[in-house]
Amino acid sequence: MSEQGLVLLVDDEAMVREATAQWLELSGFEVRCFSRAEAALEQIEPFCAGILLTDVRMPGMDGIQLMQEAFRRAPDMPVILLTAHGDVDMATAAMRDGAYDFIEKPYVPDRLVERLRRACEKRRLTLENLRLQQNLATQSGIDARLIGISPAIQRLRREILSLAELETNVIIYGETGTGKELVAQCLHDYGKRSKRPFVPINCGAIPENLIESELFGHEAGAFTHATKRRIGKFEYASGGSLFLDEIESMPLNLQIKLLRALQEHVIERLGANAPISVDLRVIAAAKVDLREDPQFREDLFYRLGVSELHIPPLRERIEDVPWLFVHYLRKGALDNDREPRTLSDHDLDALQSYAWPGNVRELKNIAIRYAIDPRVSLVELLSRQQPLQSRPVAHRQSLPLAVQVAEYEAQLIREALEQHQGNIKSVMDMLDLPRRTLNQKMQRYGLNRSDFTLS
Ligand SMILES: Nc1ncnc2c1ncn2[C@@H]1O[C@H](COP(=O)(O)OP(=O)(O)OP(=O)(O)O)[C@@H](O)[C@H]1O
Ligand SMILES: [Mg+2]
Repeated sequence: MSEQGLVLLVDDEAMVREATAQWLELSGFEVRCFSRAEAALEQIEPFCAGILLTDVRMPGMDGIQLMQEAFRRAPDMPVILLTAHGDVDMATAAMRDGAYDFIEKPYVPDRLVERLRRACEKRRLTLENLRLQQNLATQSGIDARLIGISPAIQRLRREILSLAELETNVIIYGETGTGKELVAQCLHDYGKRSKRPFVPINCGAIPENLIESELFGHEAGAFTHATKRRIGKFEYASGGSLFLDEIESMPLNLQIKLLRALQEHVIERLGANAPISVDLRVIAAAKVDLREDPQFREDLFYRLGVSELHIPPLRERIEDVPWLFVHYLRKGALDNDREPRTLSDHDLDALQSYAWPGNVRELKNIAIRYAIDPRVSLVELLSRQQPLQSRPVAHRQSLPLAVQVAEYEAQLIREALEQHQGNIKSVMDMLDLPRRTLNQKMQRYGLNRSDFTLS
């Protein structure tokens, strides 16, 4: 494929066709010429990489009919019409019907090249999106559970599959929301213990005085509120996998007991003397490097961390963002009986320039909210995520200028609508905006006039 993209050029006049083709080829486009619309149409299919540049007035099928037929075969293909001078009415009608652009003949070559370049870029992004959606639909197995195309995620999937087969203990490192629990679950599900229980326990969420009994269980009467015997997670998980989440918050005295259980494969319930043997695989997760943590026993670290998995934060594998977003967008639509919403190029840009401090969990929440509420724009959701005032400087800087500007623009329009109680004419005057532009912007930011009227 040429540098600039492929142009399907249709014109019945040989001279115009050849001159245009020559100019475009010199400008870096690949050009296929057709003297009749019918012949061009044969080349158009959903994944056709090109855009259509066509004369309007031609014998046989004319340019407008060609455009309509082309949309039936490749709905998102940009079509640029070459119109005769003064044919403004026809051109505006064509734009309403979905033409990407029109150019009056005789055209200014540089301007034509510029518009074609933009149309080709749009086509490229559309195709990328289409392929992405197709691939998502055909994935299965671990690819469908742990989504992403970045080298880091591909490596992680391979590591999980090879570690799953082994019986070694594993520590999973990653920031909040990066998928540590999901990875732990995959290690279990693709391993030999998959038919046995996977038992998660969050060491950070359980009060310190209860962790011991949670892990090891207790006999009736072992302590004040222990009225009945209770089986602990260790025993319960025997034969399967125990997932110790936030292991860095495990108190020192329990670390010793955990170490003993792992070394000797036995536990004792609180208030009992009889050792119970357990057969466990332990998968732990931590947000900090346990090696550097003075509160964490070195011997326990070596016992637990036979293997390590590191999940990088989303901002370091930004190419995964569209995949994850489309996945959860579809799921959100399906679960809530909504039509799937589409993403514009602008949306994809915004998604990939946001810093995602809450990683995949944050992304999933936004995708689902976007899927459920057709009135809300993505830019609006991203800016609501963490109000600018409270956003730490580092994140504020990482917001792209376009998102910040859009955020500010939405705020100004919202304020004007409030001030004039939804009176569009007054808002147009105040902001000095034509009605069409104002309408477009309100639509983009999910602003409805009726939300600002008094009655
Ligand atoms: N690569 C991925 N593909 C699909 N979904 C993912 C991926 N990574 C994470 N998720 C989803 O994101 C959410 C958060 O993941 P998870 O709970 O595993 O993160 P975590 O690292 O354990 O977070 P925390 O540190 O806050 O406990 C889950 O709903 C999970 O299914
Ligand atoms: Mg977790």
